[in-house]
Amino acid sequence: MAKVYIAFHVMLTSIIFYYVLKNSPSSILFSRLIPFIVFGSMFEILRLKAFSVNEQEMNVSAGSAIILAAVMLFNPLELLLFAFCYGLSIVIFPRIVSPFKFIFNLTETINVTYITFLVWNSLHLKNGVLLCTENILPMLFTISAFVLLDILSVSIIVSISSHIKLFTIWRKSLEWVLVSYVLVAFVGWILAATYNEFHLFGLLGFVLPLLLMRYNMYLFVKDKETQYAQLQDYNELLKDNNEQLLITLSHIIDARENSLLGHSLTVAKYATAIGAKLNFTTEEMYDLKRGSLLHDIGKLGICEAILQKPGKLTEDEFKVIRGHSLIGYKILESNKGMERVAKIIIQHHEQYSGGGYPNQLKAEEILIESRIVALCDALDTMLSTRPYKQGWPIDKAVVEIVRCRGTHFDLKVVDAFLELKSELGDGFFTNSYEAKDNELSLGNLLSGHQEP
Ligand SMILES: [Fe+2]
Ligand SMILES: [Fe+2]
Repeated sequence: MAKVYIAFHVMLTSIIFYYVLKNSPSSILFSRLIPFIVFGSMFEILRLKAFSVNEQEMNVSAGSAIILAAVMLFNPLELLLFAFCYGLSIVIFPRIVSPFKFIFNLTETINVTYITFLVWNSLHLKNGVLLCTENILPMLFTISAFVLLDILSVSIIVSISSHIKLFTIWRKSLEWVLVSYVLVAFVGWILAATYNEFHLFGLLGFVLPLLLMRYNMYLFVKDKETQYAQLQDYNELLKDNNEQLLITLSHIIDARENSLLGHSLTVAKYATAIGAKLNFTTEEMYDLKRGSLLHDIGKLGICEAILQKPGKLTEDEFKVIRGHSLIGYKILESNKGMERVAKIIIQHHEQYSGGGYPNQLKAEEILIESRIVALCDALDTMLSTRPYKQGWPIDKAVVEIVRCRGTHFDLKVVDAFLELKSELGDGFFTNSYEAKDNELSLGNLLSGHQEP
């Protein structure tokens, strides 16, 4: 579709060139053409990015004032040469673009400029005086045609490549640039009239202050961009620190119970790998990672005498331990930004068929993250050595998980786990009790499985 659309622009440009070369006088006044090309290109080179839709930049360039002045002053052949050179300056500097983008930008500039010229020529007062009140309406119509056509033709290509509705892009673009274009239109109109009167001096008198102002704004925007990049770096650093703190907290949680060091981090490793398999977004992945690292945080509220009791637990003691998911929820529920993490934690011992605790939720009533953590929690418990048992081999754990597919565990989470196992092999699944200290790092345990 995009190629067909670009072909349409190429065809239109060819028709315009053919028509103009055949019908127009061949006189070209280089003394006015060249300064316009030079200054127009300079404005384009110094253009400021206004915003972007799907990486397609939408710019408001003061160069549009030069285009409008050229539309009002030049004959068709001069205008085409001007539009061609102006279009080249858009695509050549400061970025190198793909051949399709190159052709599109060049032909689109020529087409829109020439159609704007036709609109102006059919509307304005042809008495040689540009700056008169009768020409205000034609000038506004002309700039409207220029803006609408320019934005429409760019929006179409953005809409085709991004699958965003054409009207949405068009409206958003208009909102951004309309006021600037009206301003640019008046500048272009006055510039054309001044050029008519004072020629090159008129042009310089207008363009030099504008260029200097533009250059100042350019420096200002560059400075803002540097500051923004710095802020992003700090943000990344904060995120890393935050993640390290979460891991430390997960070690603290695990350390309160015999032989559990590494459990939470290993659960997070499995959970994020399954989340990636289920196409979690970056935000969902972040909650899943935090929820799995902190799933047993409620154990901080259970006394060590019970957590570390060497013998069998009584029914009352089991009841106390089961309270850890609710305690975990209470610890985190009022933390801003942790609301979903708190919910993941309270539901991590719910079972798919409704037999879990504390609220006996069923199937989709349980958050998908909690269903994932439930499986990964059980998986690590099976695979890891505990005071009362040796770690199981992975195949034995797989049999058990498949047996509980649809009862303890969500069907699609089990399927994602099985796919993961066949993709990554048995080596990915470890006995977390035997994990050496240096393996208990985010880099080793979550590498490649943090993001979808
Ligand atoms: Fe738990
Ligand atoms: Fe756990």
